[in-house]
Amino acid sequence: MIPSELIERLQQAQHLVILTGAGVSAESSIPTFRDALTGLWENFDAEQLACEDGFLADPALVWGWYEWRRNRVLKAQPNPAHLTIAKLAERMPKLTLITQNVDDLHERAGSRDFLHLHGSLHKPRCIRCGAPYQLLDTDMAISNHDSRIDPPTCSKCGGFIRPGVVWFGESLPMHEWEQSVNAIENCDLMFIVGTSGLVWPAANLPYMADKVGVPIVQINPTTTSFNAIAHFNLCGKAGEILPKLYAATFSEDVN
Ligand code: OAD
Ligand code: ZN
Repeated sequence: MIPSELIERLQQAQHLVILTGAGVSAESSIPTFRDALTGLWENFDAEQLACEDGFLADPALVWGWYEWRRNRVLKAQPNPAHLTIAKLAERMPKLTLITQNVDDLHERAGSRDFLHLHGSLHKPRCIRCGAPYQLLDTDMAISNHDSRIDPPTCSKCGGFIRPGVVWFGESLPMHEWEQSVNAIENCDLMFIVGTSGLVWPAANLPYMADKVGVPIVQINPTTTSFNAIAHFNLCGKAGEILPKLYAATFSEDVN
């Protein structure tokens, strides 16, 4: 059940910020980061693989893991959560979408203005000189669960190509971070959708919003540390709750 007070706030909002995490892509069959790893990677946790030391220790293991994830994304389709967020942007005077996801499902659902805080699986680059690398069909990701894949090498300097994502221990892209903070400081409503809130500094954004008095709406099937600051906790799947919220607010179905 969607609270009527939330419907009113959404109808009146001038600038909505939406922060998304892996949970928003879960219903597109993209495993979340903290789902247990399987196959070749079952003895690792994501934080051991998603860092420069992990890559340098075993580039084929880590590149294979990202290629497997990229393959899942290429085969996946945006789900009703991505589609509702794209439709909301058409309804709101202003909407800033901040995503921690490295897939491109928001873009494919039709979102136009988005900030990728943690980079993209689809924009790899040289680990040594930073030159962007154009993924080829022959780099086509694997579909099984246990392939090591040697990373391609840079045509300019011979360095290994690394995924274009932000790894643990690395800074967030400056422009995206500044834009995100700016949006938080100037919005009047914030949604937090499908994120565990365990990874900083992204997890700080809702606390910044709370500090400046922005009402927060959380959509997640489980409890997170954001429950303490959220004005509305909508417990359930994003792909079910967001379309219901949209329909209740605008008296129109998403599609
Ligand atoms: P996590 O895997 O930590 O958390 C996913 C969240 O989504 C959990 O709170 C789940 O309860 C929730 N969830 C699962 N299914 C859902 C559904 N159908 N609808 C709504 N919520 C659902 O993913 P993130 O919080 O995104 O960083 O992780 C943050 C960062 O940690 C990632 O961006 C990545 C990772 O390591 C980097 O790659 C730098
Ligand atoms: Zn290079």
